[in-house]
Amino acid sequence: MCGIVAATAQRDVAPLLIAGLKALEYRGYDSAGLAVLDEGTLRRVRAKGKVREMEARYDADPAPGGTGIAHTRWATHGAPSEHNAHPHVAGSVCLVHNGIIENYAPLREQLKARGRVFTSDTDSEVMAHLIDERIGQGMDLREAVIATVRELEGAYAIAVISDKHPDRVVGARRGCPLLVGVGIGEHLLGSDAQALIQVTNRMMYLEEDDVVEITRSSAQVYTLDGKPVEREVHDSELTSDAVERGEYRHYMQKEIFEQPRAVTETLEGRLGVHGVLPNIFGLGAEEMLSKTRQVHIVACGTSYHAGLVAKYWIEQLARIPVSVEVASEYRYREAVVPPDSLFVAISQSGETADTLAALRETKRRGYLGTLGICNVPESSLVREADLKLMTRAGPEIGVASTKAFTTQLAGLALLALELGRQRGLDEATYLKRCQELYTLPRFIEQALTLEPQIIELAAQFVSRQHALFLGRGEHYPVALEGSLKLKEISYIHAEAYPAGELKHGPLALVDENMPVIAVAPNGPLLEKLKSNLQEVRARGGTLVVFADHAAVMDENFEQDTTLRLDSGGDFISPAVFTIPLQLLAYHVAVLRGTDVDQPRNLAKSVTVE
Ligand code: F6R
Repeated sequence: MCGIVAATAQRDVAPLLIAGLKALEYRGYDSAGLAVLDEGTLRRVRAKGKVREMEARYDADPAPGGTGIAHTRWATHGAPSEHNAHPHVAGSVCLVHNGIIENYAPLREQLKARGRVFTSDTDSEVMAHLIDERIGQGMDLREAVIATVRELEGAYAIAVISDKHPDRVVGARRGCPLLVGVGIGEHLLGSDAQALIQVTNRMMYLEEDDVVEITRSSAQVYTLDGKPVEREVHDSELTSDAVERGEYRHYMQKEIFEQPRAVTETLEGRLGVHGVLPNIFGLGAEEMLSKTRQVHIVACGTSYHAGLVAKYWIEQLARIPVSVEVASEYRYREAVVPPDSLFVAISQSGETADTLAALRETKRRGYLGTLGICNVPESSLVREADLKLMTRAGPEIGVASTKAFTTQLAGLALLALELGRQRGLDEATYLKRCQELYTLPRFIEQALTLEPQIIELAAQFVSRQHALFLGRGEHYPVALEGSLKLKEISYIHAEAYPAGELKHGPLALVDENMPVIAVAPNGPLLEKLKSNLQEVRARGGTLVVFADHAAVMDENFEQDTTLRLDSGGDFISPAVFTIPLQLLAYHVAVLRGTDVDQPRNLAKSVTVE
């Protein structure tokens, strides 16, 4: 999704802005641009495509200057093109914007009627014109920004400069993240801590409806009434080397292989020899969880799949009903909330617009409380949820989520165990499950050793157009996750079904051109799954079966491709079976030559609806 970097410093800011944009590339974008003010003269460079294309243009004709703004754009209004790339200029004003301005159409008409000429198709450009008009009427930059954002409907994070005020940048946010980096004799703005960490780890997080004015020596936050307010400066734990790719070919591959460590860290200090340690979900968690009679999980994409696995776990261990829903549906539905319901929001980024909106909806829907399961400590979700559990996966740069998913599963397993303990789960089962969870990093490590076999298998998929994933029980969400990974990075159309649904429709698709990938752990549903797979074989479908060592497969299944792994037990098995599916998607995408870490049309952090 779009990214913002801005700076005002004693040195030339363009190198800082370009480095910041490169750190934001993982978010997904389709054009880039920057603008620098040098003693009142504005220079702007924009290009469709990658930051390096914009950088090459900049290098051909560098623009020194101590104040500037920069942006990576992920197109919403208007095609990816140079003229739609940010920054947008109107008169004395130059602006970058993340988010969507919902009332831009009437504003644009009114501005045109007043003689304003637009040079882009974006919703963002109206803001530049509105601010410029106000500066023309005598307001200073900050006053003009405040008056303008008060007129807006929708979501925004903006950074604005003006040649009338060459020593400052004004930022504002509503619904999209924006933070201030506090350097020595310089200040920056960024939509994400990763854009700023190369310069400073001292960060100030802006709250909803904050407006900030930065100069070299100061950063002052204001409310929309123009009153100064204080926001705390935090030391970010992010390090710039945490976002290096190292020896790996892609971030996604690195992140797949980081999973044993990431899961270990997620469990560390939370799971002891006698079970889940106290207070791991934050202050007041014990009381809230003991009162919980229902759980409502809301998330998007991969995080939603983690929630689906948790439904099986919580219902089995705690015997309380769990519903799981995608956030974009939940937020607009008149959900019935039974008494003593706990709302759980799961998000890697903690900035997904729909998930945040759903969390905010809970305030008027009468929940017992909210729990955020998240990977980014400074995110909006973490700040807004009552209880929180950080997943400690470290920065996830590949657009396709991998280590975030398995660490979410680890966190949700802790939640299921804790709810189970409070609802009278027998001691022996509780301890057995805790021990299983403790061994999860080891079984993930073992599953990763399948990579050479998966590389060979991937070759079979390179020229396929479609694939069908099957699973049963808590492995159905694993099949969903496997199909999502394959489709998003290899662009092969993939679907996932609970295997029992096969004959209710999707079996019609099965012929020799349709590879069917089955997740087959040795559990109570294995025999049922085997019957479903017979139905596929009988229709000539190509079967790829991921089975655990203990699963006894029929003789004729050995004619299909069967890859064996050790699932580590039925509780943790969904997390372990995820690994070969991630590896398969990754290697198919590599063979197909796609942009694995930044697949087309996708963004890492979906901060618009
Ligand atoms: C898929 C993927 C997305 C995200 C979804 C939610 O690989 O990464 O489906 O899972 O956009 O993002 P978060 O978890 O940041 O709320």
